[in-house]
Amino acid sequence: MWLLLITALLAPHLGSAGRNMWLIKERVQRSRELRLEKHLWENWKALPAEGKGDWVVPKEGLFPQPLDHFNRRNNGTFQQRYWVNAGLWEQQRGPVFLFIGGEGALTPYSVLAGEHVDLARKYRALLVSLEHRYYGASINPDGLSDQNIQLLSSQQALADLATFHEFIKQQYALTRNNRWICFGGSYPGSLSAWFRLKFPHLVFAAVASSAPVRAQLDFTGYNEEYMDGMELPCVDNSHRNVLEQLRSTEVKPFGVGVRQWYYQTCGEFGYYQTCEDKGCPFSRWLTLRSQVNICAQVFGIDPGSVQAGVNFTNDYYGADHPASSRIIFVNDGTTLRDPSEVTSQESAPRMYVANLARVCPPIH
Ligand SMILES: *[C@@H]1O[C@H](CO)[C@@H](O)[C@H](O)[C@H]1NC(C)=O
Ligand SMILES: *[C@@H]1O[C@H](CO)[C@@H](O)[C@H](O)[C@H]1NC(C)=O
Repeated sequence: MWLLLITALLAPHLGSAGRNMWLIKERVQRSRELRLEKHLWENWKALPAEGKGDWVVPKEGLFPQPLDHFNRRNNGTFQQRYWVNAGLWEQQRGPVFLFIGGEGALTPYSVLAGEHVDLARKYRALLVSLEHRYYGASINPDGLSDQNIQLLSSQQALADLATFHEFIKQQYALTRNNRWICFGGSYPGSLSAWFRLKFPHLVFAAVASSAPVRAQLDFTGYNEEYMDGMELPCVDNSHRNVLEQLRSTEVKPFGVGVRQWYYQTCGEFGYYQTCEDKGCPFSRWLTLRSQVNICAQVFGIDPGSVQAGVNFTNDYYGADHPASSRIIFVNDGTTLRDPSEVTSQESAPRMYVANLARVCPPIH
């Protein structure tokens, strides 16, 4: 019964992704969710009959978040979405597990399934998750305009997490006995590490899965990982079509935030995957230069300043040597690493998403 409800809640998230160049990314997200759904079912079926009552429908909420944490003259806010699952929590001493959202809409699975939920069962944790600003439902109607998208950054997102920490602390009357641990994978994996790095008094430890903590312009070589076992659709990847999609400021509450993520790559991270080698399954026009030029064509960000943004990100967070403690880097779902051992190779995202789908027939 609960599961039916949850499935109904999720139906729109799993809908068809539409014909666009981000199909791969959407598919990856979707296949991850389907995996979680299966995992959830299995867990539920394995529960003893009386335990099934413990199952709770997660609470979805919205709270007002400052639009700009670093400018007191801007007193605007947006409604940021979060999820809470208090069904496993032991209030006195149970920890808080914070699951950090990334470059797409967050779903109730963020507090229902996954390794952090398995751990929450063991440690009687309160499960909370926060959708990333400017993605999913956490975005003002005019938020994606050229003007307003400027308030999208990992730095603002970390400040959002700090505000959220305070909000949840008050809502659930948390004390110092309720220690916080944050979790995230891929880009949110970096956010997880950086939240611990920048707000060590708020979060006791961080788990960062496949986290690309070093920003870097050219990420060639990470395509293959995602290709495994995935049926790629044929899509219209003409340059014009791509620009049109990236310029669209339409707010879409589900799926991956295409325009937003591209904006973040231009301003902060790079992570461009080029296709100049023979084996690459993607369109050949995907040179590094063409991707960086899109930053100028769509957002008016000078190609020369993209590298400067990448450099600043590494200076700001410490790249693959973040000066912090109690950050667990997990790669390939198995290896636990101390940050002191992280090398740029290892911190490369196992799964960073290929930005662009295959073109059929191949472009000459
Ligand atoms: C926000 O600032 C404007 C002036 O810039 C002011 O008129 C308004 O009352 C402020 N709103 C709040 C909620 O403080
Ligand atoms: C970025 O950093 C690299 C390596 O530290 C350096 O060679 C390059 O000049 C920097 N570029 C900019 C635009 O700051």
